[in-house]
Amino acid sequence: MREIVSIRRNAAAMAVPTSSQPEQSASDIHREASLPNPDPPKDSQTAAIVDEHLQYMVATYVRPPPMMVKGKGCYVWDIENRRYLDFTAGIAVNALGHCDPEMARLMGQQARTLVHTSNLYHNPWTGALSQLLVTKTRSSGSMHGASKVFVCNSGSEANEAAIKFARKVGKIRQPSGKQHEIVSFNESFHGRTMGSLSATPNPKYQKPFGPMIPGFRYGTYNDEAGIENLVNERTCGVIVEPVQGEGGVNVATASFLQALRNRCNEVGAVLIYDEIQCGLSRTGQLWAHANLPPSAHPDIVTTAKALGNGFPIGATMVTEEVARCVVTGDHGTTFGGNPLACRLAHYIVSRLSDPELQSGVVEKEKTFRVGFERLRKRFPELIKEVRGRGLILGLQLTQAPTPIVTAARERGLLIITAGTNTLRFVPPLVISNEEIEEGLGILEQAMEIALNSKEQIDGTKGQQEMAPEGR
Ligand SMILES: Cc1ncc(COP(=O)(O)O)c(C=O)c1O
Repeated sequence: MREIVSIRRNAAAMAVPTSSQPEQSASDIHREASLPNPDPPKDSQTAAIVDEHLQYMVATYVRPPPMMVKGKGCYVWDIENRRYLDFTAGIAVNALGHCDPEMARLMGQQARTLVHTSNLYHNPWTGALSQLLVTKTRSSGSMHGASKVFVCNSGSEANEAAIKFARKVGKIRQPSGKQHEIVSFNESFHGRTMGSLSATPNPKYQKPFGPMIPGFRYGTYNDEAGIENLVNERTCGVIVEPVQGEGGVNVATASFLQALRNRCNEVGAVLIYDEIQCGLSRTGQLWAHANLPPSAHPDIVTTAKALGNGFPIGATMVTEEVARCVVTGDHGTTFGGNPLACRLAHYIVSRLSDPELQSGVVEKEKTFRVGFERLRKRFPELIKEVRGRGLILGLQLTQAPTPIVTAARERGLLIITAGTNTLRFVPPLVISNEEIEEGLGILEQAMEIALNSKEQIDGTKGQQEMAPEGR
């Protein structure tokens, strides 16, 4: 690998065709010379490694050509030592940036002390993390009834537990089994396991794996009028993202969430806020629902992503009433709650619940919004709307964003898409204003290129989480 890292291409040198570069066309050379981070071409050493590996990997993802090998703060480097500013944070995961030094230290220390014993035995960290999540949640003004935590390994698993817990509550309330339906919303994303997928009404994700689990119903996000029919005496749980991430950075209105809460109270259903992407201070508050009055607080909050800053962990936080319905043997996990993951998450939650970090998020949102306004004035035909809260922001475009994503990457900026023609911004929460400006500058160039360049930018090279529909 050291050899490959050392082949870093010098863009300036590439500008001059030499006899040692016979296969490269003049236009390729010109393109690479004008770009700080041109995607590795098909005959690059990166492509050779990727091609060799791909034959052994299930083809669940479409990835752009670079291969990332190193991260520090808000930057990552590829195997050819090109640097990228990261506005994706591993899809809203690396809230503390890449390779936080204290996290690395704790990881080493805990790895030398105790990694895993399974849930057959107590360890000091599952409980300490649960306690910290509950106390920080209560003192943050969100989920006033937060009482107990189930720790698992991912967002899907956290939602899976929430769905099972809601079904168990329904069973206890209605032993006939009549109250078993789970309600979720269009454009939501709750995960890929069969339960969480059944709550994710996106045909692209569900169709290849049907039939879904029975008993799931779908409604329209922010449609208050539809709630009464949607949520009824058969409903045991309602799952909703206070800010939809994958669905296009859509923010739930306070009145919609309050109406859901009221209807759940009427029919005796459990209200679940999926804060896997929008929680843990991404909006500037510990949980995105902290701006709501206690009368709109949920019975369950699910979290993952930033909880481990890249180390796999998820958690399902419940009220005393829900916890009482879940008894020994109802649910479990081998890895979930292991001392290593929980030690790390304990440190990460301590950092992310810092009010200074949270007010910094609000300040940085302003920097983004000022920059977006500048871009909107410059490209009024491209940018339709700015959405989001804190550092989960979206630009609704009038056209497919992949050429912009590609042009940005080839200029040293990683961005991600969401929903339909939405650019999503979920950078590390520790990003500086200078880094935001640097990224916005690159984005402006990328938009300019994507809109005005005669050169066709290959859209398929853009960031996509999965293959197009039908594959
Ligand atoms: C809101 C939300 N819920 C659940 C998930 C699933 O989490 P995971 O990919 O860790 O299973 C995601 C992942 O993007 C998410 O954004």
